[in-house]
Amino acid sequence: MKISYHGHSVVRINTNGKTILIDPFITGNPQTDLKAEEVKADVIILTHGHDDHVGDTVDLAKRNDALVIATHELAAFIGRHGVKTHSMNLGGSYQFEFGKVKLTQAYHSSGYIPENQEPIYLGMPAGVLFMSEGKTIYHAGDTALFSDMKLIGERHPIDVAFLPIGDNFTMGPEDAAYAAKLLKAKKVIPIHFDTFPPIKQNTNEFLSMLEEQNGIVLKPGESLEL
Ligand code: NI
Ligand code: MN
Repeated sequence: MKISYHGHSVVRINTNGKTILIDPFITGNPQTDLKAEEVKADVIILTHGHDDHVGDTVDLAKRNDALVIATHELAAFIGRHGVKTHSMNLGGSYQFEFGKVKLTQAYHSSGYIPENQEPIYLGMPAGVLFMSEGKTIYHAGDTALFSDMKLIGERHPIDVAFLPIGDNFTMGPEDAAYAAKLLKAKKVIPIHFDTFPPIKQNTNEFLSMLEEQNGIVLKPGESLEL
């Protein structure tokens, strides 16, 4: 399995001959190395309905005939644009041909605010556990630190955890380092930082706060073989 980071919260997983994209915010993402019109995806998994996570989902899904996996309300909302969807909800898992997906709790919000209109409710925000080839990847989505991360770590041996460290909208570096400890993740990769001025962070400081965890900073475009 190959996992790559593409700036902000964009993670790509290549496994079983399929390309899975999590939170493909490409257009307008100053951190990404990807070009929206060239990106290939068989599957798109969304953590929540905010613009910096849904991003190019509809265009990418249409062009690639990709399946979009998300919580029920978000999947229904995306599905209205003529895209194939698979709806799930927190705590539920499903064995797809390319791997198993389980949605976890995330302590955040999830809605879409059309210009000059009231917000549209898009269900609960989520984290994603992705299991394939005997490995488990955890993408925390946008979240605060919460104590049930310990439960997630006890129930699932996490090989790699993608954790937000940007602060302001999500956990900051100190809480993310504590989260890594609760999750007992073997490797920790920081995400959701430096994209916008309020989430500017020093990744070396974050790495120094980790205890046993093997922290790895991936630059956009860099990948890891598992
Ligand atoms: Ni968000
Ligand atoms: Mn976000």
